[in-house]
Amino acid sequence: MQQKIIILDFGSQTTQLIGRRVRELDTFCEILPYNKFPDDEEGIIGVILSGSPYSVHDEQAFKVDLSRFVGKYPVLGICYGAQFISYANGGKVERTETREYGRAHLQYIDTADPLFRGFEDKSQVWMSHGDTITAIPSDCHVIASTEDVKFAAYASSEKPVWAVQFHPEVFHTLQGSLLLKNFVVGICGSRQEWSAASFVESTVAELKEQLGDDRVILGLSGGVDSSVCAVLLHKAIGKNLTCIFVDHGMLRKNEFAQVMKDYEGLGLNVIGVDASSKFFKDLEGIDDPEKKRKIIGRDFVEVFNAEAKKITDAKWLAQGTIYPDRIESLNITGKVIKSHHNVGGLPEEMHLQLCEPLKWLFKDEVRRIGYQLGMPERLIKRHPFPGPGLAVRILGDITPEKVRILQDADDIYITNMQNYICEDGERLYDKVWQAGTVLLSTVRSVGVMGDERTYEHPVALRAVTSTDAMTADWAHLPYDFMAKVSNEIINKVKGVNRVCYDISSKPPSTIEWE
Ligand code: XMP
Repeated sequence: MQQKIIILDFGSQTTQLIGRRVRELDTFCEILPYNKFPDDEEGIIGVILSGSPYSVHDEQAFKVDLSRFVGKYPVLGICYGAQFISYANGGKVERTETREYGRAHLQYIDTADPLFRGFEDKSQVWMSHGDTITAIPSDCHVIASTEDVKFAAYASSEKPVWAVQFHPEVFHTLQGSLLLKNFVVGICGSRQEWSAASFVESTVAELKEQLGDDRVILGLSGGVDSSVCAVLLHKAIGKNLTCIFVDHGMLRKNEFAQVMKDYEGLGLNVIGVDASSKFFKDLEGIDDPEKKRKIIGRDFVEVFNAEAKKITDAKWLAQGTIYPDRIESLNITGKVIKSHHNVGGLPEEMHLQLCEPLKWLFKDEVRRIGYQLGMPERLIKRHPFPGPGLAVRILGDITPEKVRILQDADDIYITNMQNYICEDGERLYDKVWQAGTVLLSTVRSVGVMGDERTYEHPVALRAVTSTDAMTADWAHLPYDFMAKVSNEIINKVKGVNRVCYDISSKPPSTIEWE
């Protein structure tokens, strides 16, 4: 039976991070809305309550019946979680003068408490709270304090309940991983069996059982999620998996051919569909970004469905959906936002069932599974790429010629980035979350080449660092790298006479230009 930690989400921005930290301890976890403690309790070994944007005194504050799990499983309350446990059990939470934001140091630590085993004196923690716990429940005692906050952490003497005012999941709490390990492994008794190898082994066995001799269709995009999904399914059901890879004509230079070759090298059965002329025809003269997206989405579904329908014995549609796509995150209104989109929506008459073997994984775990499956790094380390492809990186309407110009410029940028080795030995490409080139085809500027005056388009280079694409910062690329790329693009790509670098972060900008 698989052990798991339940993380109840009270709306904090760092809830997903708690999940990732628990997974890093090779322990499975599920993140659920604060009021959705599961009925099926099989495998649960502990519960973590997250932070929240609310104060416990707010009318809209998220409240939960603690008796559902307190006393039954070890419980760790973090920030709001800690305040709520106190508030709900006769303690006191107040808005005082002692608000803390940022770094603080633990002046008192009860290192005999299992939660703080191995902690160093004055260990640095990260605080972010407006309210302060001013009294703890009568069955509880203090296990850590900072200079300003007496109840930085407390524990119950009667029940397995711990609470910390600071955030152990963030990097700036220097021994945060140790604290979570003390809870998950030491207190909850995780056997730490959740690993890439065990995931592959158990998932392949489950898929064999679930799918039997049925035929499965999978849409491939060349991206890491769908590729890993395909290889995993292939391992389970071999030739009963049929993959469809649609070329809409706006992929990166030579990408379709290269990725098809990689897939075939992996033994996958892939139908490659070159539908570029249809997409170009339907996009002719369209310059509104949302219209472009809609046309591409609609055409994609049409082409994919036409191919899928030819596979008359198919019973399943597989998708590379991953966990962050599905987590029912809460927003400030308390409404659950579901961000899970089913691809296209295949015709109902096909009666396909959905198979999503990666649905519990975070992105970095998908990559680990890819390595475990022996996939080439080229596929595993690829930057994310938007579904509509270069269409959202060409301002204004799309023509095959503009796509060619952008493909050539982008190829120079990305190839140089892959070849640039940083001082620490890592490729520049691997330090960046996502990079791409944007053709500013609605803009023209004057240049001079030889004795000739030119009047052509600029390209903008974009490179960002991020962990989940929700927020992003522009990457500080080395000047010598930028100089080389700029030179090469202007000299080699006809139609471009200027190169700019986009130094906008998200928010307020987005990663893509359209
Ligand atoms: P933005 O531009 O919103 O992008 O900051 C966040 C991430 O999503 C990708 N992206 C898309 N992916 N269809 C997709 O499949 C789209 O229409 C789309 N728009 C943006 C983008 O590349 C980045 O990784």
